[in-house]
Amino acid sequence: MKGYKRDILSLLLCVFLVLTTGCGGSDKKTVNTSVEENQIYKDNTYSTEDRVKDLLSKMNVDEKIGQMVQAERVNITPEEVRKYYIGSVFSGGGSTPKDNSPKGWIEMIKQYQQGAANTRLGIPIIYGVDAVHGHNLVKDAVIFPHNIGLGAANNTELMKKIASVTAEEMLATGVTYNFAPCVAVTKDLRWGRYYEGYSEKVDIVKNLSSAYINQLQTYNVAATAKHYIADGATEWGTGDNGYKIDQGNVEIDEDKLFKEELAPYDEAVKSGVKSIMVSFSSVNGIKNHSNKYLITEVLKGKLGFKGFVITDWEGIHQIPDAEFEEQVVIAVNAGIDMLMEPNKWKDAVSALKKAVNNGKITMERIDDAVARILTVKFDLGLFENGLGDEKLIRNGFGSKEHREVAKEAVRESLVLLKNDGVLPLKKSQKIYVTGPAADSVGLQCGGWTIDWQGNMRQTSGTTILKGFKNIAEKHGGTIITDIEKAKDADVAVVVIGEESYAEGQGDDGSLGLDNGMALKGNIEALEEAKKLNKPIVTIMVSGRPRIVTEYLKDWNAFVEAWLPGTEGEALAEVLYGDYNFKGTLPVTWPKNSHNLPIKEENILFPIGYGLKY
Ligand code: GLC
Repeated sequence: MKGYKRDILSLLLCVFLVLTTGCGGSDKKTVNTSVEENQIYKDNTYSTEDRVKDLLSKMNVDEKIGQMVQAERVNITPEEVRKYYIGSVFSGGGSTPKDNSPKGWIEMIKQYQQGAANTRLGIPIIYGVDAVHGHNLVKDAVIFPHNIGLGAANNTELMKKIASVTAEEMLATGVTYNFAPCVAVTKDLRWGRYYEGYSEKVDIVKNLSSAYINQLQTYNVAATAKHYIADGATEWGTGDNGYKIDQGNVEIDEDKLFKEELAPYDEAVKSGVKSIMVSFSSVNGIKNHSNKYLITEVLKGKLGFKGFVITDWEGIHQIPDAEFEEQVVIAVNAGIDMLMEPNKWKDAVSALKKAVNNGKITMERIDDAVARILTVKFDLGLFENGLGDEKLIRNGFGSKEHREVAKEAVRESLVLLKNDGVLPLKKSQKIYVTGPAADSVGLQCGGWTIDWQGNMRQTSGTTILKGFKNIAEKHGGTIITDIEKAKDADVAVVVIGEESYAEGQGDDGSLGLDNGMALKGNIEALEEAKKLNKPIVTIMVSGRPRIVTEYLKDWNAFVEAWLPGTEGEALAEVLYGDYNFKGTLPVTWPKNSHNLPIKEENILFPIGYGLKY
């Protein structure tokens, strides 16, 4: 090709490129011409940091303030989400859509996201629930053992499987924010939330909670380490809100506070936890919701927490000597970024606006809180999909695969505390199964199951009795439930336990088998079995140790099953010897209930105790 023609052609080509791509010259920086400068936040090819910066620069005060308020679903409509630019909606315990199925949840959350999408900037809400042992609000979800049972299993790989199943069942309902795990380092078993903690041992709490947080968040579901700080260390008699110990106070020096109570949060922050919930309780007489030193200087400063801090349910209402507007100012200036205000969310919006207008809360503090919240929303991909990424779901809601994980968790959580050789049972034996907790999925699940206090609305699952029947009938065995026929049995299995409870409603200073939160019928079932003069295997379904010292001599074997959840057949699998026991006590078991918190001379079974076949 002639020289001059080639040059003209090259020139024309260059002009063409400049006109079509808008870029000339040799530098190839990827300027994103598909997005005008003013829409960066909507483009997920930009970094979260750039998107937050861009969006924040566009938001007015009302849009910022709305992001800092979380309302409960029964008290807010999608139109109000739009009108007030609300950043989050949640379900408290038992707060479920009429159609309490994955489809019903998706439809409900879609409407709230539509309300958010109709705002000027279209910032999606984040929807929160307490999925503390599976997606426990939703009917027919797989329900895992509560954390104390998982502390007995003490298996981080299992925790990851549980987190995966929980995340997949949450994504099946469009929920991407979990108020879990509770990282309480438990101290006093009279506390109604004792079962929500993994253990008295800091290392068990750190290892299990961080494994759960890491894995849950790989599904772009936000975890919440709660309740900051020292919720499990409160002292009996200091309870608040009418409770004996829950939401109470702990007198503790800073060394012990950092070594024992802060350690799980340090681990959670290192795991990239996206949210931390403040505890109702107090440290050295100061309500955590008002403690700027612990929230801003320690959690955000010393530990470097980059997610957002949320209050507990109306947690700021317990800040003393202040009206609501002042409580909002104190809490936000202490470092709280989102206010869980199920009922007074509109008042919270007004109080924030007033505080910004009168300078009691600086714009800098608002921007910091909103940036933290937006960072989580961008990181979860909510601007791209407000219902979470369903492509990450591998097995279906309530699926057999998910239930197999729950059965594995039950098997590994059981602790064998006594066995004279009566266990393992033979599948051909005649077994009399009795006791008030033998045939109740509700009692197996305990609190935080569909309803806040549990056991009110049924959900699918297998009871312990059904589990025995399923196995026995396949192997020529007989399960007897009629006392009139019990004399034909080779052995009696007595399943005793506790009522379902949650939070302070479970505070119990008695801890016997016939008082406090103990099930009516425990003693009657034990005495009836004793009259049979046959070997007795006692199984206890409870959220904590109870005082069994005087009864133990009458039992040939004793198994603590904690709150095993929906997969009761797994207990029968272990008692028949298909699997060995693995669990060990994650807490100390006391001899009596008048030397608590437990002292050396009051130990029946030490932490770490557990027998095997
Ligand atoms: C409750 C609990 C907290 C829970 C929140 C929302 O009062 O203290 O653990 O996440 O309210 O249900």
